Amino acid sequence: MTKVDTKDLDFDNLDFSYRDLPYSYEAEYHDGKWGKGKLTTDSSMNISEAAVALHYGEEVFEGLKAYRRKDGGVNLFRPDRNAKRMKNSAERLLMPGYPEADFIESVKEVVRANQDFIPPYESGGSLYIRPFMIGTSPIVGVHAGQDFTFRVYATPVGAYYPGGLTPTAFVTSEFDRAAHGGTGQAKVGGNYAASMLPGEEAHRAGYSDVVYLDPREHHYIEELGSANFFGITKDGQFKTPKSPSILPSITKYSLLELADEMGMNPVETPIAIDELDQFAEAGAMGTAAVISPVGSITHKGNKHVFYSETEVGPKTQALYDRLIAIQYGDEKGPAGWAVDVPLD
Ligand SMILES: Cc1ncc(COP(=O)(O)O)c(C=O)c1O
Repeated sequence: MTKVDTKDLDFDNLDFSYRDLPYSYEAEYHDGKWGKGKLTTDSSMNISEAAVALHYGEEVFEGLKAYRRKDGGVNLFRPDRNAKRMKNSAERLLMPGYPEADFIESVKEVVRANQDFIPPYESGGSLYIRPFMIGTSPIVGVHAGQDFTFRVYATPVGAYYPGGLTPTAFVTSEFDRAAHGGTGQAKVGGNYAASMLPGEEAHRAGYSDVVYLDPREHHYIEELGSANFFGITKDGQFKTPKSPSILPSITKYSLLELADEMGMNPVETPIAIDELDQFAEAGAMGTAAVISPVGSITHKGNKHVFYSETEVGPKTQALYDRLIAIQYGDEKGPAGWAVDVPLD
C-alpha cells in the first residue's frame, strides 16, 4: 500500500474507505501477557499462514471516531465503552482482554500521530478508528490460540450512507447474521462474513441494506445492516429492539439517554416486523451510520413507508442534531461522553 498524502485528500467529499495513514499502533501478547505497545509506520502485518484468526475467525474489533471541534481540538466519543465492549467480545472468543486504559491511550496516540488527517470541523467528516485483535498462533485443530496481536489503524471518512440525512430503503432477509446463543453480542469478524451475501443481495435489489430478523422466529427486528434500529411511535416514544443476538451499540445507548432527556420515554423492547404501523419515524444508528433515517422497510414484498421516503422526520432530525453537537463539541453532553485528545 502507498501511504496517503493530505494533499491527495478532498476532505469535503470523503467516502467510507481505507486510506493508509502514516501511523498505526501495535501490541503483542505472548507467554500470558501483553508486551508494551507502540506506534508503527508499517501498515502491513506478517503472520503465519496457520494463524488461528485466518482459519477459525479468532478476531474481534471496534470502531469509533475522532471529531475535529470548531476550536481546532479533537474529541473522541465514549472510548471507554469501546474498550469495554472489545474486552467482552474477546472473552467470548477466549482471547485476552486488552487493558481498557491502554486501549484508550492507544487510540489517542493514533489520533495524535495522524492528526493532519482528521477532517476539518466544517467538512462534517471524521477520523474513523479501528482497534482490533487477532489470534496469531499457528493452529490446525479447532481451539483458541495463545498469541495475539492488538492493533489500531485510522482512516478519514465522510458520511456512511451517501446523501447523509436522506432516508433510504431497507429489506428483510431470509439470512441471519448471528445465531441465538451465538456471537451476535460480540463484535467479531464472523458475524460480518455472514452478513456479506444478504447485504450484497439487498444492494443488488436496490436497497441500502438488510433488516435482520431474530434468528429463532424471524418475527422481531434485530439490526439494520451494521447499525441498530429505532422507531419513534406516533405518540412520540423512542423504541429500540431488545435481543440477546444484537450488538450493544454505543450510539444506541447514547440515544436512549438523549431521547430520555428530550422527553421521548425511551424503551428497549422486542419490535415485531408486522407492527411497524405504530411508528411515525424510524432510523438506523451506529458509529458509522450516526443516525440514518429509514424511509421504508420491505418485508415479504410489502413495503412499509415511515415518515417519508425523501424527507427526514422532525424527531429523527432533533436526535441527530443533539448527538452530533455533542460529538463535535458544539454542545455539552453527559459527563464523560466527549473525551479531549491532547494534540501536543
Ligand atoms: C452489527 C452492528 N450493529 C450495531 C452497530 C452500531 O454500534 P455502535 O453504535 O457502537 O457503533 C455496529 C457498528 O459498530 C454494528 O456493526
